[in-house]
Amino acid sequence: MEQQGITKAKDIVCSGIRPTGNLHLGNYFGALRNFVAMQEQYDCFFFVADYHSLTTHPAPGSIYTDARRIMAQYLACGVDPEKATLYLQSDLPETAELYLFLNMNAYLGELERVTSFKDKVRSQPNNVNAGLLTYPTLMAADIIIHKATRVPVGKDQEQHLEMTRTFAQRFNSMYHTDLFPLPQAMGAPTGGLVKIPALNGSGKMGKSEGEASTVFLTDEPDVIRKKVMKAKTDSGPTEPNQQKPEEIENLFNLMRAVSAPDTVQHFDTLYNSCQIRYGDLKKQLAEDMVAFVEPLRQRILEFEADEPRLRRIIDAGRDKARASAVKTLAEVRAAIGYRN
Ligand code: TRP
Repeated sequence: MEQQGITKAKDIVCSGIRPTGNLHLGNYFGALRNFVAMQEQYDCFFFVADYHSLTTHPAPGSIYTDARRIMAQYLACGVDPEKATLYLQSDLPETAELYLFLNMNAYLGELERVTSFKDKVRSQPNNVNAGLLTYPTLMAADIIIHKATRVPVGKDQEQHLEMTRTFAQRFNSMYHTDLFPLPQAMGAPTGGLVKIPALNGSGKMGKSEGEASTVFLTDEPDVIRKKVMKAKTDSGPTEPNQQKPEEIENLFNLMRAVSAPDTVQHFDTLYNSCQIRYGDLKKQLAEDMVAFVEPLRQRILEFEADEPRLRRIIDAGRDKARASAVKTLAEVRAAIGYRN
């Protein structure tokens, strides 16, 4: 960016998605769509967090299968390997080395206080492993290995990002260096964040609300229709301009995401005049959702079917990402006092 003769360095953006299950509309509107916009403006690193997935001990054979599926989904949604660096986390062993260094300066007390860790302790008391405890140091390593300045993540990741800043700052002061910038969260580039609720009337779309209330990018048209038709509704408005209960507001929010504005307007008017028929609303929503998801699903299938192409993309992403990681690691090792 040229500003009064001064060239401002581009922001470096980094974000990852854990390969747990298929991507859904919540991921699309909350993350992928923004990644696609960001790759036009920033120096972007996007990856599949397939080291992080080990905290839940996936079956050994399934790790690459799951990771490549998410890769195909990133690509189908428009993440362009020519514009962004798209790679697998496990293709950067430098991340593991940086993680080791950061762990030496991460304290039990601060790690135990992390909300996501406390949740895991409660939900899986029989598998409270050190990887779970140090989830935030691995995430910090992911981010600072590219000296990222901006991290597009949702609210649930803000605490992790704050710890990233803590660890980066701690490294800088411990080794008297200014190697690492302190990365900041980044909202949607266009501002208007679309809420993607689950179909069961409450909560946001995602694994925690269950498969039946989540529309995956890999869902076939009839699966989407069935899910939408089963969405929770109430007995209808009884007076004009009544406030919508949550489950109805949710359907309108989904419509705002996938339907044309005048379609939303049409059903809003019907609701406000107590003439709405939820069956019609759902049918329309289902068709608009199918029209939205089906091209993505087809592209996912195309990418998944072409293993050589997928491999070429993953290999090229690894090479680009490693160039950045190797450079940072050399600086890190020098700062700590190792030979290179
Ligand atoms: N913790 C993130 C999540 O669960 C995934 C993630 C891992 C990540 N490393 C990251 C996100 C680095 C942004 C940057 O959603």
